Amino acid sequence: PSNPQMGLEHPILRQADCRAKGGASGFKVAILGAAGGIGQPLALLMKMNPLVSVLHLYDVVNTPGVTADISHMDTGAVVRGFLGQQQLESALTGMDLIIIPAGVPRKPGMTRDDLFNINAGIVKTLCEGIAKCCPNAIVNLISNPVNSTVPIAAEVFKKAGTYDPKKLLGVTTLDVVRANTFVAEVLGLDPRDVSVPVVGGHAGVTILPLLSQVKPPCSFTPEETEYLTKRIQDGGTEVVQAKAGAGSATLSMAYAAVKFADACLRALRGDAGIVECAFVASEVTELPFFASRVRLGRQGAEEVYQLGPLNEYERLGLEKAKKELEASIQKGISFIKK
Ligand code: NAI
Repeated sequence: PSNPQMGLEHPILRQADCRAKGGASGFKVAILGAAGGIGQPLALLMKMNPLVSVLHLYDVVNTPGVTADISHMDTGAVVRGFLGQQQLESALTGMDLIIIPAGVPRKPGMTRDDLFNINAGIVKTLCEGIAKCCPNAIVNLISNPVNSTVPIAAEVFKKAGTYDPKKLLGVTTLDVVRANTFVAEVLGLDPRDVSVPVVGGHAGVTILPLLSQVKPPCSFTPEETEYLTKRIQDGGTEVVQAKAGAGSATLSMAYAAVKFADACLRALRGDAGIVECAFVASEVTELPFFASRVRLGRQGAEEVYQLGPLNEYERLGLEKAKKELEASIQKGISFIKK
């Protein structure tokens, strides 16, 4: 259906819609929840990504405005907007990568788990659409609580018979971005030169920075370790409190989402040696899902790396993390199975 915000189908245009139909090389990316606090800057940054040829912006509100606005940027990607459930299937069909920041964010005093009741249903509906319209796409799931929404997505895909564990990735990049920043501050380094693996999950004590494996190699005093671990685990809450009711991290999250999506696209293109942390189906611990470093390739998370040597502090942290994670994973699975 022709859509005013799609401009590309106007009869005056020569070769109307030819770029959108795949005339240009590059990947087709859809953002679900594109009009939100994360979705808008994420759409802006993806429109600037040279690997993207087609960008679909889907939301249940406000996509015409966001799409019209973004579509005026003179970058390569062709942008189209989709509004409301009846346009979900058109938004998804033919896509290579789906990024999902749809759902409600935290307010002060809320944990990510408090979002479960609303966001679980949203993620279920969106994933049913993905299973139907683009079952081979890579999925980057941002909606919280990630520790439960990833298991929900997996169950939806299993039910539909389309589940490929390599292609379902919970986005934990913001934890790594924060860890790199905070560690660089303590060490007096440029954050671009610092790399901190963050494993476990994406909520409170399940966020486990491996400070013993920081690059460049360095050591921390017990006070520094305690300060950094807490600050990384509470980074989201720091933003929620500072925003004082206006939501959670959106700008740094959009940055992190694009960092991760770009890594997925470079991997899809065939680039070698792309390693990022993500919350994925895993055999690294006894839990069915776990965040750790993964090697991204054409099929998604092609290899999930072991945690490597942990120090005593990290081993204790891991035990705490696993306890909470197990319950969050089970909660997600039961939501679909019941
Ligand atoms: P927001 O409320 O500003 O935006 C959410 C958007 O989702 C809205 O535009 C809303 O209309 C849309 N939406 C609601 N139901 C939908 C549906 N059924 N289909 C499509 N779109 C729908 O929230 P914000 O700040 O953008 O956060 C979004 C999610 O991302 C929240 O769940 C938040 O907790 C999560 N988040 C995850 C992080 C991570 O590191 N993985 C970091 C920060 C936030």
